[in-house]
Amino acid sequence: MMKKPALLRHVLIIGTSVLTGYLLLASRAEWSEMHRYNRALGDLSLLLIVAAMAIGPLARLSSAPFLRKLMPYRRELGIYAVLAATVHTIIILIGWVELDFARLFGFEFHPQLQRYVMLRHGFALANVVGIAALLYGFVLAGTSNNFSQRVLGTSV
Ligand code: HEM
Repeated sequence: MMKKPALLRHVLIIGTSVLTGYLLLASRAEWSEMHRYNRALGDLSLLLIVAAMAIGPLARLSSAPFLRKLMPYRRELGIYAVLAATVHTIIILIGWVELDFARLFGFEFHPQLQRYVMLRHGFALANVVGIAALLYGFVLAGTSNNFSQRVLGTSV
């Protein structure tokens, strides 16, 4: 059973994320649905990661007690950042490359040559970086729970 403060943190981060996601979607109302949703979730994920990573150093550098109170929020921010990045990736895989994994890595099928040719180097490179970030995120999310922290220990 989740304790009350943790539940409250989840509710607050989900609420803030839904509102931010809504504003991101509204700011690109003229885009196609696929681009609007994948960008909104990519941007949301990035904002949550930045917030999770900024709280620790800011709390150390500043004497403001409110920043120390935000420290426990890093876990929920990380969890929802990975969740948003996962949905962002699913939209790209289904909506953009249509589960054709060669296209994810910059190849397109050439009907005259009857084979795949490399067309989009930048797209391939960006996707490889995104995949590496997501895999790393899965490791962090998988170890951001009380059980893992008991087994692995915390830093001193
Ligand atoms: C932690 C993981 C990830 C984060 C934080 C992330 C974040 C972002 C952000 C912020 C953008 C918008 C960039 C811009 O406005 O120029 C973006 C775009 C994009 N990302 Fe990711 N991403 C992640 C993982 C992935 C993965 C795994 C893939 C591919 C499988 C991917 C594919 C793309 C593509 C294709 C775009 C361009 C979308 C468009 O122009 O509509 N991303 N991502």
